[in-house]
Amino acid sequence: METVVSGIRPTGNLHLGNYFGAVRNFIKMQETYNCYFFIADWHSLTTHPKPGSIHQNVRTVLAEYLACGIDPEKATIFVQSDVKEISELYLLLAMNAYLGELERTTSFKDKARQQPNNVNAGLLTYPVLMAADIIIHKANKVPVGKDQEQNLEMARKFAKRFNNMYGEEFFPIPEPFTFDQSGLVKVPGLDGSGKMGKSEGNGIFLCDEDKVIRKKVMKAVSDSGPTVPNQEKPEAIQNLFTLMNIVSTPDTVEHFNGLYNTCEIRYGDMKKQLAEDIIGFIAPIREKINDIYNDTDYLARVAKAGADKARESAAKTLEDVRKLIGFKSFY
Ligand code: ADP
Ligand code: TRP
Repeated sequence: METVVSGIRPTGNLHLGNYFGAVRNFIKMQETYNCYFFIADWHSLTTHPKPGSIHQNVRTVLAEYLACGIDPEKATIFVQSDVKEISELYLLLAMNAYLGELERTTSFKDKARQQPNNVNAGLLTYPVLMAADIIIHKANKVPVGKDQEQNLEMARKFAKRFNNMYGEEFFPIPEPFTFDQSGLVKVPGLDGSGKMGKSEGNGIFLCDEDKVIRKKVMKAVSDSGPTVPNQEKPEAIQNLFTLMNIVSTPDTVEHFNGLYNTCEIRYGDMKKQLAEDIIGFIAPIREKINDIYNDTDYLARVAKAGADKARESAAKTLEDVRKLIGFKSFY
């Protein structure tokens, strides 16, 4: 069975974009692949180093993953920092990672620009740690969004380099499993253009209360309405329809599309319907998030079982890696 690895940095709550762009795919993949889904808390220190918030952020993302339907019986779900073997592989891979190639990575250059006062070595070696995350389980496939393609390319490079240096086809070369090609949507924001994102500040979160959702949707950017029948939709309006396509029934979408095409649409009505349909989707997940978040025993059991499974797989790989490099214990 092919192995899938993917991580998410615990830097905030999951929003509809994360759900339809990533988590929904994880839920499908856990049925057919040997999946490792983890919370990349070490990675989050490169940008979010505050000690007070890290545990709470990890707990939130773990509860949200589980509430969405990632099933610890089917997938191995764990916290990166529970698996110390990853840090050893990271160290070993770092010995064959070169300053020039790390400095050229787009995500490094972006982050260095965004936080000029904190261009830490962890940012520079981010792709090395990510490679360790992936190849420690000998992953074949890595589901990532477009923004992670280059980091994954680096992971492929480090895996090939290791294989070349130590004379074996030891690590499988991980393939990107791109969401876009698998027909998943890019979820737009409600601010007229672009995608929904945490840093964009336009997210509808899986933990949002009904009234918060209503408020956000009613404030969505629209315009004064079409004036010509069957007119092409401007981006902000298309975004409302895209969201509706995701959460509403086809009949509902068809209804408002018809009204748009005959220039009879009232965006207030459309937004009201959209808000209710988003609430219909989110409310049950939000309740589960709250239950799971407060069930510390359950979270502990899941995290422990996931860590045990991930450690077992990681330790096996590392034992072979040490041998291949030439380490030998005296005792
Ligand atoms: P954010 O934009 O909230 O910071 P991340 O960059 O942490 O999200 O992405 C986590 C996962 O969610 C990635 O796989 C990414 O491709 C996916 N994702 C994020 N926003 C969207 C969106 N608007 N539409 C589709 N997928 C998204
Ligand atoms: N870099 C990824 C992101 O920001 C998170 C991540 C860390 C990851 N390690 C990984 C994703 C390994 C896939 C595989 O979204």
